[in-house]
Amino acid sequence: MRLAPADRITAIPPYLFVRLEKKASELRKNGVDVISFGIGDPDLPPPQEVIHTLINAVKEEKNHKYSSSEGESCLREAVAGWYKKRFGVDVNPDKNVCVLIGSKEGLANIARGFVNVGDKVLVPDPGYPVYANGAAMLCEGKAVVMPLKEENGFLPMLDRKGLKDARLMYLNYPNNPTGATADRGFLEEAVESCLKDNVLLAYDNAYSEVTFDDHEAMSILELEGAMDCAVEFHSLSKTFNMTGDRLGFAVGNEDAVAVLKKVKSQLDSGPSPFIQRAGVEALALYGGRQKPEFVRRRNEIWSRRLDVLCSGLGKLGYDCRKPKGTFYLFVMVGGSSMEFAEKMLGHGIVVTPGIGFGQHGEGYIRFAVTQTEERIAEALGRMEKAIQ
Ligand code: MLT
Repeated sequence: MRLAPADRITAIPPYLFVRLEKKASELRKNGVDVISFGIGDPDLPPPQEVIHTLINAVKEEKNHKYSSSEGESCLREAVAGWYKKRFGVDVNPDKNVCVLIGSKEGLANIARGFVNVGDKVLVPDPGYPVYANGAAMLCEGKAVVMPLKEENGFLPMLDRKGLKDARLMYLNYPNNPTGATADRGFLEEAVESCLKDNVLLAYDNAYSEVTFDDHEAMSILELEGAMDCAVEFHSLSKTFNMTGDRLGFAVGNEDAVAVLKKVKSQLDSGPSPFIQRAGVEALALYGGRQKPEFVRRRNEIWSRRLDVLCSGLGKLGYDCRKPKGTFYLFVMVGGSSMEFAEKMLGHGIVVTPGIGFGQHGEGYIRFAVTQTEERIAEALGRMEKAIQ
């Protein structure tokens, strides 16, 4: 018997980070000391108070029952409170908020709610692979790329022709993989364009709390008109180093959030209630617009590591600029990024080839600085040998 997958599955490449992780674990099995700058999975711990809350919450029987698929009211209220404190935005926890099992599923499931077969979905390129593959292609929509070019600050051109007939547009700043940030003017233009052309804006703000050197990321929902056309996605993964807990949330337009909830009610039953309790504790670390000490200190670590990597790569002859947000360094190495990444693997270093984020990522590689400064220095030494 031959179990043939659906055509839409055959058309999708394997998930980028699964491929990389497989290669790295093969090397480790063979005794290689691997230094991985691959997946953006923080090597730093979550806040201690969050772990304590989680342990206590696990002990309570009621936290082992089903959650509602839209998320427990305590977390939706905490999200609304966080939006008010952090961004000065008022949202209704029952109408504008949906809890997610990590922002990744929300980014994909919003497409299930809005994309018909053949519908145009605008995706940044290079971009997080979930927009084109997990969202557009899994819904049999048509992913249309918006090139992000370095000379334009990795911001897409938002022309009327491009937006015409699109159902959905993904944007993400601070940006993965480029580390670029967007100013208010660009985001206003994005909202205006979506309103004019009736396009739902899925704004991936997973890195809003990972910023440096006085850069403060805003919420798209701070902008006039955004509540009419946008849903914003946040994740506790990068804000609180909680990737494995799988917790995120979508906030925005009431009708779009209702559609997302409808999709999810047929697919999942929400994150575990004990994880959601931990989420409430994490968001409570914020007292206002300022980042709490945990987030500030963690960002200082990313920032120092990025400095070490940037200056080391500069000495090796690469032109790199430290990003104002995310913990990624996106560096032009020229030629085939896959070949470069393979060459690095040969020296026990995992980097992500830019081509994995789309055709416009070719020539670049991405480093996630999830290694200590000492290990970064070790990797730079190996790279020096590799490129000689
Ligand atoms: C990344 O490394 O770009 C992502 O955060 C990984 C993921 O979410 O799968």
